[in-house]
Order: sequence, then structure tokens, then C-alpha cells
Amino acid sequence: MQVSVAWTREGAYTAGEDAWAVVIDVLRATSSIGTALAGGARAVRPVDDMQTAFDWKTRDTGCLLAGERNCRPIPGFDLGNSPSAFLAPHVRGRQVVLATTNGSRALASAASSGFAEVLAVSLLNLGAVAEHIVRGHPERLRIVCAGTNGVFSIDDAYVAGALIDRLSDRTRVECDDAGMAACLLHCASARDVPALFLKSRAGRNLLEAGLREDVLFCARVDALNVVPRMTDGVLLL
Ligand code: MLT
Repeated sequence: MQVSVAWTREGAYTAGEDAWAVVIDVLRATSSIGTALAGGARAVRPVDDMQTAFDWKTRDTGCLLAGERNCRPIPGFDLGNSPSAFLAPHVRGRQVVLATTNGSRALASAASSGFAEVLAVSLLNLGAVAEHIVRGHPERLRIVCAGTNGVFSIDDAYVAGALIDRLSDRTRVECDDAGMAACLLHCASARDVPALFLKSRAGRNLLEAGLREDVLFCARVDALNVVPRMTDGVLLL
């Protein structure tokens, strides 16, 4: 399997119709998506902006609007982007329309870029997604880190390396240089993931917003056995 890594969502372009994409925004969008679906949400629809989310509410009055701007909940939305909040009973059976600064946009671009499969991964569902990829065995896999406002995020890069290492344990993987760098980062930092996440820019932004618990929640490995897959613009199990 040929694996390439993009450090930001601008890299969400396909290398061919048979290529798969896996999108990472560990702090916090893809952690929230896995948690919402594991908690019984019917679907998660990532959207580019707040207005598109409000438009969905007029089409599906039962949906929940979730997301953030500057890490904080958006006025008029039902939920912020704290993963644990998606475990609330009223999320069950509902579509969640998610508008976040980087993650939902990275997913929306990957969904419209012609990949055969688009998946959402975080540390929480790392093993489940790795297993799904090994079984599907695409010839090419593009790992798209959402990044933070168009620049590299070390927390996403760490998860890219963790995913490649999991894949390499099970199958033959050829990485580009960005993939090799992600693996070196994973190897160097695996002993203290919470510390790495708390020191990252995304982690510091969350700390400033009083959301330390969210960072620790997202630093847990293999807590969820879910594989969010994009189908017609929504992530489903
Ligand atoms: C994003 O999409 O940028 C995030 O997930 C940021 C956040 O959760 O605060």
C-alpha cells in the first residue's frame, strides 16, 4: 500500500479513483465524530460553514447543530465540539451537522475529491480504522491532517504516524517523506501523548478556553470500535 500524508486540508486531493482518504483532526473534530457515532448518532454531516449548518436545520428540523469557532460553541447551535458532550442521550438517533474550523472542512473537501472511500480517524478509533484499511487494502491511501488554519499541527501528525505504524504491523506499506516523518514523531512521543497534545498549538488553544478535559479525552487510544465512513456527504457506521 502506498501511503502519503498531507499536513493540511489543502492536500485532500486524490491520486486516482481507487485511492482512499483518511482524515485526522484529533483535537477535536474526528474525536467528536467517532464519539457521536459510537454514542448512537444516526449520522454526522461535516459542513464548511455556519450558514450551511443553519440551512440543514430548516431541511431536517430534528437534526442537531454542533461545532465551534475559536474552540467555543457557536451561538444558536445545540452543541459545541467537546467529544464527551456527544454521549448525551438526546444525540441518539439524530443527525449531527458539524461545522468546525478545520476538521469538518477537511472532511467536506475529501468527500468531494473523488476518493473511493473517506474515513474519519482519531486516537479513539485508531485500531478499528487501521483494521478496516488493512481489510480493504487500497493501493493508495492519502492521510489528510486537517492542520490548524492552513498550517501543520503536531497532534494530527502524531496520529498519522500512529496509523501508519499500525498498518505497517499488518501489511507492506510504502510511505512518502511526510509519512516517514510522521512515523518518527509517533515513535519519539508515544510515551506521553497527553503531554504532546497539551503542548501543541491546538491543545494550548483548548487549554486557554478551559477545555483541558477535552484534550485528555482525545488522547485515549482505542477506546472506540467504530469506523466512520463517508456516504453521500455524511459519516455513517
Ligand atoms: C477544528 O475543526 O478546527 C477543531 O476540531 C477545533 C476545535 O475543536 O476547537
